[in-house]
Amino acid sequence: MRTAVVAANWKMNKDLNEAEILVKSLIEGYSPSGTEVYIAPPFVHLYAVNKWINESGMRLAAQNMNAAESGAHTGEISSSMLKSVGASTVILGHSERRDIYSESDGLINEKVKSALAAGMQIIFCFGEQLGERKASAHFDVVKAQLSEGLSGVSADQMSEVILAYEPVWAIGTGETASPEQAQEMHAFIRDYLRNQFSDAVAERTRILYGGSVKPSNAAELFSKPDIDGGLIGGASLQADDFLAIVKAAS
Ligand code: 13P
Repeated sequence: MRTAVVAANWKMNKDLNEAEILVKSLIEGYSPSGTEVYIAPPFVHLYAVNKWINESGMRLAAQNMNAAESGAHTGEISSSMLKSVGASTVILGHSERRDIYSESDGLINEKVKSALAAGMQIIFCFGEQLGERKASAHFDVVKAQLSEGLSGVSADQMSEVILAYEPVWAIGTGETASPEQAQEMHAFIRDYLRNQFSDAVAERTRILYGGSVKPSNAAELFSKPDIDGGLIGGASLQADDFLAIVKAAS
């Protein structure tokens, strides 16, 4: 049995004061269950959020990192910096990093290898654009993103990788992939893991769905056999909504 995961990706939202209000409401309403819950605030709040969630049972994640260990990379953040403020999990390959900041599969792969070498856990994101789905290219696109983004990653290292399928047309649009569309892709991804790595990797890897997950659709999505939880954007900014989604995964 795979342990469910629900992760909050706050993206570029919440100042420090708002972050404190949200985290305190989350802690008040949260009762730990078997589900792993991650909060990924902006970099500048990681240190504070780590202190606030201490002992709550919730875990901390970062939204990005640089592949280099240190040096002349103005404005960037390394794995050791993240670990030093309590974040040993990092989201990599998010479609907003790919689209707005031109992160290629190759660059994402460098980050993946660097994070794994530093002993971090990864939430690796990927997913097709609307035009690619309309052209029925979504399986090919996802396969290429997995194969290039995870190139050089061993079966052993895959135990530190959580996958997050986020069809770009469903992110922040209110349009969710239907539970059937999501399940179809998740089953495809699990088959890919079986072929590329092993049965064991396919069976143990958590595959999250992301894209307009809300309290009203979470339970049905999470009831599908290959959907092991969610990566939540907009609905993670409201404590009640996020907690309802966490409950739906438990
Ligand atoms: P929304 O839940 O706002 O659609 O965002 C999904 C996402 O991109 C999470 O990483």
